[in-house]
Amino acid sequence: MNQSIDHTSIKIFEDFYQKEFSSDVTSSHWQEVGGHRAALTSEKKIKLSGWGFGSFRENSLKIKVKYIIESILTDFLINKYRAKQSSLSAAKTVAKRNMRYFDFDCVKQALSLDLIESYISIEAIKTVCIIGDGYGFFGSMLKLKYPHIKILSVNLGRTLLFDSYYTNQVSTRFNTTYVTEESTGEADFYFLPAENYHLIEKFNIELFVNIASMQEMNNTVINNYFDLIKRNPASDKYFYCCNRVNKTLPDGEVTKIHHYPWSGFKILHKSTCPWYQKFPIGKPPFWRNFDGQIDHVFAKVEKQLES
Ligand SMILES: C[S@@+](CC[C@H](N)C(=O)[O-])C[C@H]1O[C@@H](n2cnc3c(N)ncnc32)[C@H](O)[C@@H]1O
Repeated sequence: MNQSIDHTSIKIFEDFYQKEFSSDVTSSHWQEVGGHRAALTSEKKIKLSGWGFGSFRENSLKIKVKYIIESILTDFLINKYRAKQSSLSAAKTVAKRNMRYFDFDCVKQALSLDLIESYISIEAIKTVCIIGDGYGFFGSMLKLKYPHIKILSVNLGRTLLFDSYYTNQVSTRFNTTYVTEESTGEADFYFLPAENYHLIEKFNIELFVNIASMQEMNNTVINNYFDLIKRNPASDKYFYCCNRVNKTLPDGEVTKIHHYPWSGFKILHKSTCPWYQKFPIGKPPFWRNFDGQIDHVFAKVEKQLES
């Protein structure tokens, strides 16, 4: 990708690609895989290459032909889990505007949105916090489906550039801002580097979403996010969490979704995430298991903790 860059992305680029910074929220996993590259090729263009946060294939004829079997298998998933047309349509629009091939990674996000919608009315929600999105996909899909919603997107500073950049590519109408201690004002999307994640407390959030991201954090950071969720000033708060049942980080630390600090939550849904156990591949046996079981939990915060 090599397109015009927006103001929010420029600020993130300056802070996380042009300056030294420290990050005590980067786990041993992300120290290993987080070597994304970004370069300004002229005043208004940027070249990005990143990995480790989902597939992003260019939507070319060559790719369409190459991945045709995966595409058929992905359609099978859409039918099997009866993905809602409205979610699929938003997801397809995001992929199209990002010139991204619509694949399993996009479909799984639409299916997660459907699950959330089976428990709550998103019409009643004003602000959603997405922790560890990736190409801004879930946030953009949600915003296209529910234009009234404001999105707070939190990610490691270097990955946040991808969230911000690709979100800005979805619509020039999206008003985006970079969150700092000093920032104020209204926007459609607020991009917050996880290095400053305590600033989540500046926002009233009714729904938090985390897909395949806490599994790559260490337990201290997971606990801190849970604390921020429980303490958030919104009166009714929900959390959708879809992560590995068991994951060992490169430094040996083990994290387990069912050992996250769920006290203070009323669990509304807890199961193996049925569409997120295997991913499609283009040759027999056509489906390959992820490295471990992935479960999902949808919960409501029961009580506000004392500060
Ligand atoms: C495997 S990717 C998942 C991306 C996307 N949610 C998906 O399901 O395809 C993990 C994401 O977690 C993010 N992440 C890692 N550590 C984080 C932290 N401490 N705070 C917020 N996001 C983090 C990564 O940058 C990346 O975007």
